[in-house]
Parts: sequence; C-alpha cells; structure tokens
Amino acid sequence: MSTTSTNAALEVLFSHDQIARRVAEMGREIDRDYVGEKIVLVGVLKGAAIFLADLARSISVDNTFDFVAVSSYGKGSRTSGAVKLIKDLDNSIEGKNVIIVEDILDTGLTLNFLRGMFEQHQPKTLRIAALLDKPSRRVEKIDADYVGFTIPNQFVIGYGMDFAERYRNLQDICLMPPDAPELSAG
Ligand code: IMP
Repeated sequence: MSTTSTNAALEVLFSHDQIARRVAEMGREIDRDYVGEKIVLVGVLKGAAIFLADLARSISVDNTFDFVAVSSYGKGSRTSGAVKLIKDLDNSIEGKNVIIVEDILDTGLTLNFLRGMFEQHQPKTLRIAALLDKPSRRVEKIDADYVGFTIPNQFVIGYGMDFAERYRNLQDICLMPPDAPELSAG
C-alpha cells in the first residue's frame, strides 16, 4: 500500500502524478472537441475547485470560469437526496458552450439537478466533465462526457474532495478508511 506524504495513515488510490497525467489527457480531449470555439467551465463548489484549476490549464481553447454551489453531503458522508442551489451562476450561459466540471459523479442527483437547471438557460452545448465516476451508485440516469477515472463504491478524499470539510488539500486521491468512526455513524 502506498501512502500519501501528507498523512501516512491514508491509502493512495490515485497519486498526484497519475491525476496530472489524466487531467492533461482530458484537456486534450476537450481541445479536440471544441476547435475554434469558446467554452465556459462551470465548477461545482467546493469539491471541483482544484480539478477545475488544473483542467482549465490543460485546455488551450479560449475558456472562462463560473461557479455554482449546491447542498450536498453536509458534515458527513451520506447524502440526504435533496439538492438545493446555494450559489447561482454569475453570468448568462445562453448560447454558450458549457462544461460542468464536477469532482465525483456518484448518485447523479447533483448533476441531474444542475443539467436540468442549465438547460433552461439554453446554452449552445452542455457537457459534463467529472474527475471520478462511481457508476454502481447511480440513482439518476446520467453520464459524464469526460471522465477521469471510474471507481467502485469507495469513499475518497483529497485533491479537492472532503470528508466533513477536511482533507481537500491532499495532493493525492486517497481512500477514506472504512472503519473511520464518522463513516459508520451514518
Ligand atoms: P451525487 O449527487 O450523489 O452524484 O454526489 C455528488 C457529490 O457528492 C460530489 O460532488 C461530492 O461532493 C460528493 N461525494 C460523492 N462521493 C464522494 C466521495 O467519495 N468523497 C467525497 N465526496 C463525495
């Protein structure tokens, strides 16, 4: 088991180098798909902030950023099922090429909610880039157009992803130990 330098007790699922290589590939895929176009990258706060920062710098096509925030897991690791908009877009996306940038596609509730909301604003195109995909957890029928890594049903932290707001600053994506007291408490 390799461990992250930030916390020797955590098992690394994807190292910083693996993430950097994959994010660079995703940037090249997006460049190929949007030749001669402009893109708006809409990050979903807070988990996607670090992914968006790296993905945007892997993209050569003209791009701007916007951010939305939705209610998610609160203080623990379980979702309530309800999605609520906490912070709306700053700028209109009408007629624009929009890519929603999300850390994890899990049940799909969040992205299904955002996709429906954004479609009402009539963007020119609307796609989804998710760093991680957990297809076995899906409740809503939704897929990402760009996926970094597909993973089984494991709770992960680091590279922007949190547990109760902690661990976002880990350079690697790590596994949350299944026996963590906060996880078993539900
Ligand atoms: P969904 O609405 O169930 O697809 O959940 C999406 C959100 O849940 C993600 O943006 C994360 O904020 C959070 N999430 C889901 N799985 C994990 C995980 O393994 N670690 C940290 N956050 C997670």
